[in-house]
Amino acid sequence: MKAGFGVSVLAALAGLALGQNAITENSGNFSLTADGMSYLFHVDQESGDLVSDHFGGPSNDFPIPAKISSQGWHDGLANVRREFPDVGRSDVRLPAIHIQHADGNTVSAFHYQSHQILQGKPALPGLPATYGEDADVSTVQVTLYDNYSDVTAVLSYSVFPKYNAVARSFQIHNNGSNDIVIQRAYSFSTDLPNLDLDMIELQGDWSAEMNRVKRKVQFGETSFRSTEGYSSHLHNPFFALISPTTTESTGEAWGFNLVYTGSFAATAERFSHGGIRVLLGLNPLHSSLHVAPGDTFTSPEVVAVYSSEGLGGMSRSFHSLYKNHLSRGKQTKQTRPILLNSWEGSGFNYTESSLVTLAGEAEALGIELFVNDDGWFGVEYPRNNDTMGLGDWTPNPAKFPDGLGPYVADVNNYTVLNSTSKLQFGLWVEPEMVNPNSTLYHEHPDWVLHAGQHVRSLTRNQLVLNLALPEVQDFVLNTVHGILDSANIQYIKWDNNRAIHEMPSPATDHAYILGLYRIIDNLTTSYPDVLWEGCASGGGRFDAGLLHYWPQSWTSDDTDASNRLTIQLGTSLAYPPSAMGCHVSAIPNGLTQRNISITYRAHVALMCGSFGFELSPSELSPEESAAIPSIMDEAHKVNPIVIGGDFYRLALPEETNWPAVQFVSNDTNTAVLFAFQQKMMIKPAAPPVRLQGLDPTARYWNSGDNGTYSGATYMNAGINLQWPQADYSSMLVWVYKQS
Ligand SMILES: *[C@@H]1O[C@H](CO)[C@@H](O)[C@H](O)[C@H]1NC(C)=O
Ligand SMILES: *[C@@H]1O[C@H](CO)[C@@H](O)[C@H](O)[C@H]1NC(C)=O
Ligand SMILES: *[C@@H]1O[C@H](CO)[C@@H](O)[C@H](O)[C@H]1NC(C)=O
Ligand SMILES: *[C@@H]1O[C@H](CO)[C@@H](O)[C@H](O)[C@H]1NC(C)=O
Ligand SMILES: *[C@@H]1O[C@H](CO)[C@@H](O)[C@H](O)[C@H]1NC(C)=O
Ligand SMILES: *[C@@H]1O[C@H](CO)[C@@H](O)[C@H](O)[C@H]1NC(C)=O
Ligand SMILES: *[C@@H]1O[C@H](CO)[C@@H](O)[C@H](O)[C@H]1NC(C)=O
Ligand SMILES: *[C@@H]1O[C@H](CO)[C@@H](O)[C@H](O)[C@H]1NC(C)=O
Ligand SMILES: *[C@@H]1O[C@H](CO)[C@@H](O)[C@H](O)[C@H]1NC(C)=O
Ligand SMILES: *[C@@H]1O[C@H](CO)[C@@H](O)[C@H](O)[C@H]1NC(C)=O
Ligand SMILES: *[C@@H]1O[C@H](CO)[C@@H](O)[C@H](O)[C@H]1NC(C)=O
Ligand SMILES: *[C@@H]1O[C@H](CO)[C@@H](O)[C@H](O)[C@H]1NC(C)=O
Repeated sequence: MKAGFGVSVLAALAGLALGQNAITENSGNFSLTADGMSYLFHVDQESGDLVSDHFGGPSNDFPIPAKISSQGWHDGLANVRREFPDVGRSDVRLPAIHIQHADGNTVSAFHYQSHQILQGKPALPGLPATYGEDADVSTVQVTLYDNYSDVTAVLSYSVFPKYNAVARSFQIHNNGSNDIVIQRAYSFSTDLPNLDLDMIELQGDWSAEMNRVKRKVQFGETSFRSTEGYSSHLHNPFFALISPTTTESTGEAWGFNLVYTGSFAATAERFSHGGIRVLLGLNPLHSSLHVAPGDTFTSPEVVAVYSSEGLGGMSRSFHSLYKNHLSRGKQTKQTRPILLNSWEGSGFNYTESSLVTLAGEAEALGIELFVNDDGWFGVEYPRNNDTMGLGDWTPNPAKFPDGLGPYVADVNNYTVLNSTSKLQFGLWVEPEMVNPNSTLYHEHPDWVLHAGQHVRSLTRNQLVLNLALPEVQDFVLNTVHGILDSANIQYIKWDNNRAIHEMPSPATDHAYILGLYRIIDNLTTSYPDVLWEGCASGGGRFDAGLLHYWPQSWTSDDTDASNRLTIQLGTSLAYPPSAMGCHVSAIPNGLTQRNISITYRAHVALMCGSFGFELSPSELSPEESAAIPSIMDEAHKVNPIVIGGDFYRLALPEETNWPAVQFVSNDTNTAVLFAFQQKMMIKPAAPPVRLQGLDPTARYWNSGDNGTYSGATYMNAGINLQWPQADYSSMLVWVYKQS
């Protein structure tokens, strides 16, 4: 067992020489150390198994004094806290790795073989992942080997000390001479001790995404999953474990987020001794992954964050990690153009000239980017409604007789109001889909997901192209290259409006997602200046996998500003507001019929990195039109701090009539407060708004009550806002440090 250890001490010393000791190893004891977090595990010297010691606040003693009692029915590995639980060998909890071997047995025995400590973080082949320079992140790769089955597992742990974050993934290498089948692959697994914990996850549906739900981690499995082939509206591949006393700003919180877009499963399993096994990775129903002799399977990674500063601290770690070390597009840290999307204003019913007119109306409001949504393509099967055309990405000649080029030039010919810039043009695509009513489907019925002769279930009249097939990947790649080369397109909204259906095998889902990543890796690399926005019937694919490639994602098709507060604040649990796309739409709201003022609608949408409108400017009321200039002015002022600042949820819409959030610039000089009153109430009075993240000793002026107070007063005593006697009122308050 000791053979490998000598080498690694040198690697650890090399790390120390660089002034970094984020990862150390001593006699098989591994310490991953961040500014406010420790992650500890060790090799059992007898068996070679990897044993979990600690994931939480700073701690550095080996062996960890706290141990699971071996009293009771179970003995052996069932009483051990394990880092990479396999199947068999007396552990009856859920495994992180479940392999079916050629003879049909599913037992594995992964034992320590060697390890390597590196500065920086190697890329995951074909998968999105966090990244960083040598100074940002350190990695340890631990090689385990099952000598009964001739299979190798390499666990990779990367620690980002500034963010109290560990990213973990693993590889399975088949050293044997027969195929193996991976039935379960949970990228992250650790065994926490017998702590009283609650699980928070983001549950939802179409137009009702990302509701926080909390439940106790009870004995047995506390689980959720997506079997939709994508991350889904129903559950997001994220959860937090918190102690029952944790709040937004105090207490312990552990966050787990899978950097992946396909089906997934998440579980916290509390065993009879009370210990909690944490598992997050691929959905076993969509696994059955064959690994041929000599081949390697790479799991997606999970980012795990620890915070002793409540859920808010956890969220801010995710946000800054993702802005600095996950989302790689150059627009991630740039302010975004104010856009107008044609969908709610025009639907499918438009012509080139009606769109150029609409773009002109948009420009007159100060819009910087005009987005042409669905309906622009299809020759034999013109896309005038959702029954036909998907797959045929040639401009509809009845709408665009000369193609997109001259039309886009006309849009670009507008100069943005009060600016010297030209109006930018953006386009909607849904390249993973096909309507049976399309030329593509008639030519290539075999390009669609299917299982033998089984019926291909339609949703929204469409089927899913099988992106697992290289020829389909090439078709999509060439199609989108062709579109982008045909006109001056500066933004793409990439939609995806249905879940997967019948597949040739459960493993197709993972192969599909790898195909999707291959395509969008190529496209984002080939067109670095294009701003990409993901969309999946709203927030159906708001996940860290796509955030690696695309800096922003449409948050929900529900644009009702009151509902949106819950959706956006739920999304912010794991994902930065700078990555959210949010628009002002017309009233009465198409989904809820609510009539919320344009100021409130704008304030809700301004909390997001990508702000815009989804309405017909000609239908604005005189009061709405009068409000637009000041909304545009605020949009330009707010966007830099939404993109670059730290985000605080001050009060939640599900807990108070007066929800509020705040952004603070990274130098604490400026803060902006968004505050809302849902219903007008005689009593109780609105509570004071207590800010966070300011410099306590500095003095700040605020535009709400025009007062100047110390940071400490804002944070501890709070300020009162004078609410009007009206439902759905909102305020945007600036807070400036006085020099
Ligand atoms: C490593 O941990 C073992 C117990 O697991 C302990 O006996 C040993 O002293 C530790 N070694 C170091 C160098 O900390
Ligand atoms: C695997 O290695 C262990 C020692 O770690 C040894 O006891 C066992 O016999 C080996 N099994 C086989 C099949 O080689
Ligand atoms: C398994 O295969 C990998 C990759 O070829 C190799 O590095 C490793 O040494 C092999 N392990 C064993 C025990 O043969
Ligand atoms: C389509 O737009 C035209 C021109 O604005 C209008 O006359 C027509 O009624 C619209 N058709 C539908 C089906 O909405
Ligand atoms: C959809 O559009 C096509 C082409 O314009 C038209 O023939 C068809 O009747 C429309 N179908 C529905 C259901 O509106
Ligand atoms: C651009 O607009 C100007 C008027 O503002 C017009 O004279 C010119 O022809 C337009 N150019 C194009 C390419 O449409
Ligand atoms: C094909 O389009 C027609 C006309 O809109 C529609 O009635 C039919 O349902 C569509 N077929 C499918 C399979 O969606
Ligand atoms: C993208 O794909 C095209 C077509 O396959 C290929 O020619 C090009 O080299 C690829 N570019 C990148 C950056 O991967
Ligand atoms: C919103 O206003 C419209 C009239 O513009 C009215 O028909 C509708 O009832 C109002 N909705 C609500 C929820 O008050
Ligand atoms: C454009 O500038 C004019 C003059 O400075 C100003 O009155 C107006 O509010 C501005 N409009 C917008 C949308 O910024
Ligand atoms: C703070 O934000 C500014 C502007 O976004 C940026 O240039 C700077 O690098 C940031 N500083 C830190 C320490 O993150
Ligand atoms: C804000 O306060 C300053 C000084 O305290 C005062 O001069 C100014 O008139 C006030 N402005 C408003 C709008 O109340």
